[in-house]
Amino acid sequence: MTNSIFVLGSLNADLVIQADRLPTPGETLQGSDLSIYPGGKGANQACAAARLGAKVAMFGAVGQDVFGDLLLESLTNSGVDSGGVVRSERATGSASITVLPNGENSILLSPGANASVSASWVEGLAPKLSADQLVLCQLEVPFAAVEALLKISNEKGARVILDPAPAIELSPETLRLAEIVTPNQAECAVLLNRESQQPRTFEEGLEACRGLHARGVRTAIVKMGDLGCVVSDGNESFAVEAYQVDPIDTTAAGDTFNAGLAAALATGSTLREAVEFGNAAAALSVTRPGAQSSAPSREEVERQLQSR
Ligand code: RIB
Repeated sequence: MTNSIFVLGSLNADLVIQADRLPTPGETLQGSDLSIYPGGKGANQACAAARLGAKVAMFGAVGQDVFGDLLLESLTNSGVDSGGVVRSERATGSASITVLPNGENSILLSPGANASVSASWVEGLAPKLSADQLVLCQLEVPFAAVEALLKISNEKGARVILDPAPAIELSPETLRLAEIVTPNQAECAVLLNRESQQPRTFEEGLEACRGLHARGVRTAIVKMGDLGCVVSDGNESFAVEAYQVDPIDTTAAGDTFNAGLAAALATGSTLREAVEFGNAAAALSVTRPGAQSSAPSREEVERQLQSR
């Protein structure tokens, strides 16, 4: 039985401007006033899982600057153990995010301190990892560090959820080390090496799952935005429809999904129950601005589940 969640990943200050559309090359476009939110896929997943009631420890790096303070404060306020976040010589990672009127976002990352997370540092975390932990990782810290974590987790017998975001090609040997892999549609296309063919329907998503299994993925969850998601463990496959909501900011919806999935699995839910829990959490998050600021509580998710 899993009793706590171990997150390795990025911590970013999200610099968000709302705009009617994206600027074209060479163009200067007026947007909204700037909002600054705590973000980063790793920290978003950690904060959201903790707000959903899980016991969570975060590992990563921030700079020795005010953005680093902002991120550590957000972890603490969400109830995450931030003792595993070190302060690097490099500036805190940041993300320039444009949010469009339909809630869609575009993100440009500056890795900063996230890039100082190394494989050798992760190897030094091995004594903190045990079989009763559920490990969450993404790809906003160097791949060598994630790969080291995947190997240690497997040696220890810990379950791993890998969010392959931002997408890179991954070998079957790497993909096999995670119990669950959770690409969105674009990331799925990269993993399948057919970037022009994102799955757009549940049928295409389930077909993509079969392709992911052939590339080493044990359980695939393809997050399909306002459609919902498809799930396949190689034996059973199913689709879960998204809730109909009015999105204002989809930033971190995928992170909130993974947090909900992990928080539910950590308390003994089945895969289907955990996917439904993550789906409800993600639906709530898109109705609120920002990344960590949009994560719902367990009570809100339970109410959302009952609304169906
Ligand atoms: O997944 C959303 C996150 O991606 C943002 O918070 C941003 O920091 C980038 O990491």
